[in-house]
Amino acid sequence: VDPTLDLFAEINRLKKEKNAVILAHYYQEPDIQDIADYIGDSLGLAQAAAKTDAKMIVFAGVHFMAETAKILNPDKKVLLPDLNAGCSLSDSCPPELFARFKAKYPDHIVISYINCSAGIKALSDIICTSGNASQIVNSLPQDQKIIFAPDKNLGAYINKQSGREMVLWNGACMVHEIFSLEKITRLKERHPNAKFIAHPECEEAVLALADYIGSTTQLLKYTEQSDLNEFIVATETGILHQMQKASPDKTFIPAPPDNACACNDCPHMKRNTLEKLYLCMKYEQPEIIMDETLRLAAKKPIDRMMDLSR
Ligand code: 13P
Ligand code: SF4
Repeated sequence: VDPTLDLFAEINRLKKEKNAVILAHYYQEPDIQDIADYIGDSLGLAQAAAKTDAKMIVFAGVHFMAETAKILNPDKKVLLPDLNAGCSLSDSCPPELFARFKAKYPDHIVISYINCSAGIKALSDIICTSGNASQIVNSLPQDQKIIFAPDKNLGAYINKQSGREMVLWNGACMVHEIFSLEKITRLKERHPNAKFIAHPECEEAVLALADYIGSTTQLLKYTEQSDLNEFIVATETGILHQMQKASPDKTFIPAPPDNACACNDCPHMKRNTLEKLYLCMKYEQPEIIMDETLRLAAKKPIDRMMDLSR
C-alpha cells in the first residue's frame, strides 16, 4: 500500500461505495475502533450483525465472530481483514473431541460460549456470551444438567454465582490467564482508591479480588458510571482506548501479567490492521464462506440466545 495514502479517507470512501458496515470488537487497535460504525462486545456485535441492512459486513475481530455474522447473514458478503485471526479459546475445543466428551453425558444439554467454532455451535443447544451467560443459564430449571464449553473460567464463575454444577470443558483464553495475582495485589496496595475490574475469562483467584466482573461492554459502562477515578483493568488492553475516550479524566491501569515479557494484547485480535482492513474492503476478501448444513445447525443455538437476550 502506498504509504502516503490516507487510509481513513479511503476506508470511508469504500464504505459508501460498497454499502459496507464495519463492526469492530473492543480489542481491536485504536485506529480500527475509531473508523468502525459499531464497536461492541460479542453480544452487541452479534446483535448488530443480525440487524444491519448493509450489503457487506467487514468484521474487525476474530474468526468465530465473523463466522457468527455469516451464520446470521448468509446472503451478505462477510469479510475478515486477516483470516488467520483465530482464538486460543476456540482452538482449545475441537468438535471431534467435544462430540466424544458430550456423548459421555447424554442427559445434559450444552451451553457454549460464543467463542467457539461453528462446529461446536452445531453441537450446542444454546449459545451465550460473557454479557448474558448468567441470564441464559438461569433461564433453565435449577435441576437441568448442563455441559458448559469451552471456557472453564467463565463456567466456574457461573457455577459459583448460580449454585449449579455444570460440567466444564477444560478450555481457556491465553490473554485472560496471564495475570499475576501477586502483582495485582501489590498494585492494589499502591492504589488503594482504585477499583479492580475483571473479565470473567480470568482465573478464579483473580476474579476473587475483583470489585466488578463483566463483559467488555459491562466493564466500560461500569467505568463510565462510577464516581471513582482510578481503575485496574484485567482484560485485553484494547478496551482501555474506549474507557479513556469515554472518561478522559479517569486513570486506567492495565492489570500486570505474570511474566515481564508477556503483555495483555490478544495476538489474534491484533492481527487486523488498518492497512489490512483497507485491502480487504478494496479486494472484497478474505471472505467467510460456510457450508449451508453446518450454518443451519450452528444457527439454531444462536437464535435461542438471541430470543433470550432481547
Ligand atoms: P466480550 O467482548 O463479549 O466480553 O468477549 C471478550 C473476548 O474475549 C472476545 O474474544
Ligand atoms: Fe480468544 Fe482470548 Fe483473544 Fe478473545 S482475547 S479472541 S478469547 S484468545
